[in-house]
Amino acid sequence: MTGQRANGDYQTPMGLAQQVCAYLANVRMVRPTAVLEPTCGVGHLLEASFIFEASQYLGVELNDDYVRQANDSIGAYSRVRIVQGDILTTDVRALLGSAESVLILGNPPWVNRATRGALGAAQCATLSARSLGLRGIDAMTGASNFDLSLPIMLKLAQDFRDCSAVMAMLCKTSTARALLCELKSQDIPFARCALLEFDAKKLFGVNTGACLLVLDLGGAGANGCELYHLDQPTQLVGRLEYVNGTLRPHGATSSLSALCESTPGSCSMPWRSGLKHDCAKVMELTEAGSGLWRNGLGEVVALEPDYVFPLVKSSHIKSPVLTSFRKAVLVPQRKLREDTAHLRSDAPLVWQYLVDHRSLLAARKSSIYRGAPEFSLFGLGDYSLARFKVALSGFYYEPRFALLADPAGRPVMLDDTCYFLPAPSFEVGYALMLLLNCMPVQEFLRSLTFADAKRPYTQKLLGRLDVAKVAARLSVTELVSCEARLGLKPRLSAADYQALRAWLGV
Ligand SMILES: C[S@@+](CC[C@H](N)C(=O)[O-])C[C@H]1O[C@@H](n2cnc3c(N)ncnc32)[C@H](O)[C@@H]1O
Repeated sequence: MTGQRANGDYQTPMGLAQQVCAYLANVRMVRPTAVLEPTCGVGHLLEASFIFEASQYLGVELNDDYVRQANDSIGAYSRVRIVQGDILTTDVRALLGSAESVLILGNPPWVNRATRGALGAAQCATLSARSLGLRGIDAMTGASNFDLSLPIMLKLAQDFRDCSAVMAMLCKTSTARALLCELKSQDIPFARCALLEFDAKKLFGVNTGACLLVLDLGGAGANGCELYHLDQPTQLVGRLEYVNGTLRPHGATSSLSALCESTPGSCSMPWRSGLKHDCAKVMELTEAGSGLWRNGLGEVVALEPDYVFPLVKSSHIKSPVLTSFRKAVLVPQRKLREDTAHLRSDAPLVWQYLVDHRSLLAARKSSIYRGAPEFSLFGLGDYSLARFKVALSGFYYEPRFALLADPAGRPVMLDDTCYFLPAPSFEVGYALMLLLNCMPVQEFLRSLTFADAKRPYTQKLLGRLDVAKVAARLSVTELVSCEARLGLKPRLSAADYQALRAWLGV
């Protein structure tokens, strides 16, 4: 089972395979001379595609057992070839010869790099995202923890960019959108694109937005894609269009952009992400009374207080001002890559605690810990020590911002699912929190993302908000009405808002 999960293995039910092929044949009038199934599994999609009466059918599949099963069921047909191999390294153009029009029909693996990494799939290491032009740094830091279907679809789009080919793929909706953004950034044109959503829970038992992505390659002209539901494939329900290289719902108001969007090259405030430690059992703590702390292993320990800070995680950001904190985090460094050896004499309790849990900390999988000083954290900088922060969770579609301020004056830390701006005082932070929770900013941010995205907000996306520009244009009255809408007692003064504007350089 682990092997199957690691390969993102959800075989297409025959009924869905037939529905997809009937749509392509009868609605899209696709008439291929060759059908390629890039990750053909046991061959359901390939078998359903026999309605096209193409001259050749080629299936590629990594798993030997599936190759055998596919051969048993359809391999006897003279026009069918099932090849065992990795689609990322197979030269399918050569295998297809001079086919005139190709239908690339598939259901590539529904698994992301993190899951695959956690499952220890060997192939994960060899997947060369960079060679396909996917942003390598994002891939390494997890900023884009993409599905393996993304490099597979991207490779096929690259291979067939100059052919008369239709690519029809079942995949997560978020992966389809990510592919369309990659095509744009790599200048791979397409003549038409349709995204037909279906119920993945019902058909595959997976809780995710899913679609059939149909892309007409080998021609130019499309500036986005049409949206349908697979069960009503002729009823257009919306469109996505490219705006500044990303996809947005068609008609997302340009007045919001004029008010909120940073212009390319303008210097917007750098959003920071929270701490990355990858060892919650050791590093995250709760109070155990009498100045002691309990860790995730159930141990109660004493630690030097200078190294323990209040911690806020995504699920804690529920109200607009947070002043009490139920979790804490051990922060053994003050800046990135600081050597921790001095703790032996400066903070012997912390040192002993870390040494006692050395094996768990050393077993952290992410490559960023390799070569870093022992017990290192990431996502650490001067900004981490700011006493006031305005933060949001990257995980929730509603962009709710909260001011974090510990009455005891300790800097509040965030985990790496959150993003924040440091603020110089409570008053400025409070005004900033209101500004960011104002309706135009909320609508603008929602217009940049999608409710089904795994992480709707990232540092990059937040960077598209020009906070200073918004502060220059929104009046104090708008912040006051936001304060009332959030159910806060009135406390914002014009002077506080002025202080925020001055700090932003407005
Ligand atoms: C989601 S399943 C779909 C199977 C089949 N396409 C279908 O529709 O029923 C994904 C398939 O991709 C195969 N696979 C995973 N990585 C692959 C690779 N790099 N090259 C070829 N096949 C691969 C898996 O073994 C699995 O059969």
